[in-house]
Amino acid sequence: MTNKKKPWGGRFQMPTDTAVEAFTTSIHFDRRLYRHDIEGSIAHARMLAAQKIISRKEEKAIVSGLKSILADIGEGRLQFATGDEDIHMAIEKELIRRIGDAGGKLHTARSRNDQVSLDMRLYLRDETDQIIALLKGFKSSLVRLARIEIRTIMPGYTHLQKAQPVLLSHWLLAYWEMLDRDEARLKDCRKRVNVMPLGAAALAGTNLPIDRQKVAGLLNFPAVSENSMDTVSDRDFVAEFIFTAAMIMTHLSRFCEDLILWASGEFGFVEISDAFTTGSSIMPQKKNPDVAELVRGKTGRVYGHLVALLTILKGLPMTYNRDLQEDKEPLFDTVDTVKASLQTLTAMSRNLKFNHVRMREEAVKGFSTATDLAEYLVVKGLPFRESHGIVGRLVAYGLRKNKTFPEMTLKEFKRFSAAFAEDIFDCLSVEKAIHAKTSHGGTAEKMVLKRITEIEGRSDA
Ligand code: ARG
Repeated sequence: MTNKKKPWGGRFQMPTDTAVEAFTTSIHFDRRLYRHDIEGSIAHARMLAAQKIISRKEEKAIVSGLKSILADIGEGRLQFATGDEDIHMAIEKELIRRIGDAGGKLHTARSRNDQVSLDMRLYLRDETDQIIALLKGFKSSLVRLARIEIRTIMPGYTHLQKAQPVLLSHWLLAYWEMLDRDEARLKDCRKRVNVMPLGAAALAGTNLPIDRQKVAGLLNFPAVSENSMDTVSDRDFVAEFIFTAAMIMTHLSRFCEDLILWASGEFGFVEISDAFTTGSSIMPQKKNPDVAELVRGKTGRVYGHLVALLTILKGLPMTYNRDLQEDKEPLFDTVDTVKASLQTLTAMSRNLKFNHVRMREEAVKGFSTATDLAEYLVVKGLPFRESHGIVGRLVAYGLRKNKTFPEMTLKEFKRFSAAFAEDIFDCLSVEKAIHAKTSHGGTAEKMVLKRITEIEGRSDA
């Protein structure tokens, strides 16, 4: 494309090298912003007219021109060329083609530097709301599952070694808590996204009598940005969003990792529905948890996007630099990945069949109530360190004799401590062990139920 046709072509003698045009263009990915770009431009034109910078007639022509462009892009009737450079210039060029000189007034008191920040903020505000809704959906399926599995016993692990019996409902709510913090982080991040940047112009502000509050009002922003230089170079709202998304992915990935392990023959704790698994091209017997594995794998690309964005920002001299155009693909892919992961996992979680028998079978193994025995001795007056040693020796004895705690006699118990009495047999079962964990946040059924009731009662659930 000759530079005469470019909005910035005035001072150029030679056309842009075609390879440079291809290298610098962003239209193939930032076209995603067209709706928000047009929404922002309409608000800008309305403000320019209200401030008498353009006439009411010009405002009308601009607004209806932009609306027709919006419809045409939506219907796929408007295609863009590489030479259009980016979505902002492509729309402006098309507007001028459609309405003539009035179109050339739209970019008054505005630069692409503040315009692109506005587009990104409008886009991210919408996407954040959608992700919050998806997160809420996944969280409520976890709570629903927790109600269903309220009494299901499972082995709890540390170091992936059997530790203490817990309730499956408690495990489910553990993920609910993580995702609840993610939701709070998203809402907090949204406050910093929700600031109106337009009017910073290129970097210094403008001589023209604009009304930034008016634009903010039209676009539903509660605040305008305070420093024009900061405004055009700031992308911390993008970095913060990607971090929040990366944290969500971390939590989803851990949830998936548990399910992948549990779906193995070795654990046999869960069966993932056929609809959410895939087969092997060679081994006819296989049923693989690919969805869960892909969520775990896709977590890596979101981490990559976070590091990419932070690296783009770290060495930028003030203020705008073209490096900032590289913020979009990481952001867009993060949005797509986290949305698809939440949608798929929500559906998959509704199609899980937990094997209660297998879970309980494993929960009773491995002296999993040893800590309960130690706490029993504490109640009898022994210092914990001493009781820990006694029970440790009991475990070693059991391993030697191939006996579990319930298989030992009171006489055997008493050989290790005189403090053991008949009531020891009341605290050896996994049910009793779980029942006794009534400390705040503990796994006793009554504590889990209390939390479920609190969660269900929350007005924003
Ligand atoms: N496509 C550019 C971006 O995404 C828009 C801003 C261009 N500004 C400029 N001064 N070249 O950052």
